[in-house]
Amino acid sequence: MNLTQPLLQPYQMRDVSLANRVVMAPLTRSRARNRDLLPTDLHAEYYAQRASAGLIISEGVWISQDAVGWHDVPGLFTDDQVAHWKLVTDAVHAAGGLIFAQLWHTGSASHGDFFDGRPPLAPSAVNPGLLAPTSTGRKPTVEPRAMSQDEVRKTIADYAAAARNAMAAGFDGVQLQAGFNYLISQFLNPRTNLRTDRYGGTLENRARFLFEVIEAVGDVVDLRRVGVKAGPAWSETGEFVSGPEALADHEYVLGRLNDYELSHLLLMGMMAEPAQGSLEKLADDGVFQHFRKIYQGTIIANVGFDQQRGNTILANDLADLVAYGQPFISNPDLPARFASHAPLADPKAHLFYGPDAAGYTDYPLLEG
Ligand SMILES: Cc1cc2nc3c(=O)[nH]c(=O)nc-3n(C[C@H](O)[C@H](O)[C@H](O)COP(=O)(O)O)c2cc1C
Repeated sequence: MNLTQPLLQPYQMRDVSLANRVVMAPLTRSRARNRDLLPTDLHAEYYAQRASAGLIISEGVWISQDAVGWHDVPGLFTDDQVAHWKLVTDAVHAAGGLIFAQLWHTGSASHGDFFDGRPPLAPSAVNPGLLAPTSTGRKPTVEPRAMSQDEVRKTIADYAAAARNAMAAGFDGVQLQAGFNYLISQFLNPRTNLRTDRYGGTLENRARFLFEVIEAVGDVVDLRRVGVKAGPAWSETGEFVSGPEALADHEYVLGRLNDYELSHLLLMGMMAEPAQGSLEKLADDGVFQHFRKIYQGTIIANVGFDQQRGNTILANDLADLVAYGQPFISNPDLPARFASHAPLADPKAHLFYGPDAAGYTDYPLLEG
């Protein structure tokens, strides 16, 4: 056993004490196969199996019915959902773990199938050119309906209500999904946000939605328990091919996060080869080198890390914690495997999104 590895050192994240620096990344697994989008006993078993992570970030969970854009994902907007999540958080705590809820709204990255045929709500009526995973397969996204200002305000209130629900359900904190192709990114991205009101146009206006969400959530939950997942790591498809503005936009947004005493920033590395231009320097560890100087709080590094690269990024002080996604799917005891330098099991990708225990709760623990 080698416990001197940086990944296995404890970490103090504001008032939350983590036993190690191995974070479980948020992972949608589509096991809430019930009409009310409730987490089940299977969720409790799955998360409790992974309680040796320094911190678990839950799969993305819906802040409202309007937020839905992926099949069989649980919500945090009804009393019943809160009660069922309490069983999950109790199981994780009983196993000695910590769990934050990731709050999710897919915006235009959704489909009318989730809304009786009505188009999803988004900043502007721009089809993002993605595929939406419905219960009958991946379907091309459609032109969404632009939110009115009242609907924007209601959506911000939905984030706050879901954050309050998360704490009532026993989560140790929340994380806002502010990256990838989803609603908060759709406001920031000038190709999906054509608004001419205070939420569109200038960078400050495009970023306003995120900061109003943070402030509304901060009115009901201690911001030291609120993290943000973000980064210029757009998927490089549809309207999300990074434009020349992406670097400056993220410097501004991630820099402004310093104005709040947040729990953490889960910073995503690039998921695709950056197009020629200003984002090239963000390849590999470049994104962490760049934004470590800009964001002063706790940084959780993510995307494509193995044990060695995780230890190295911590030793080089480019991040404080490392989030593992796919490795945690197939290695429920990932920190123990790192401690003993045991081989890792490979995840079964065809079972990522359901339907049952196979490929979810049946990955074995390390022998002995
Ligand atoms: C099956 C699967 C589901 C995912 N679901 C989410 C999610 O709900 N929310 C989120 O922010 N990221 C999600 N991600 C992205 C992961 O959190 C993570 O950023 C990504 O897998 C890169 O980390 P890794 O290379 O360690 O797997 C998902 C990834 C996978 C493979």
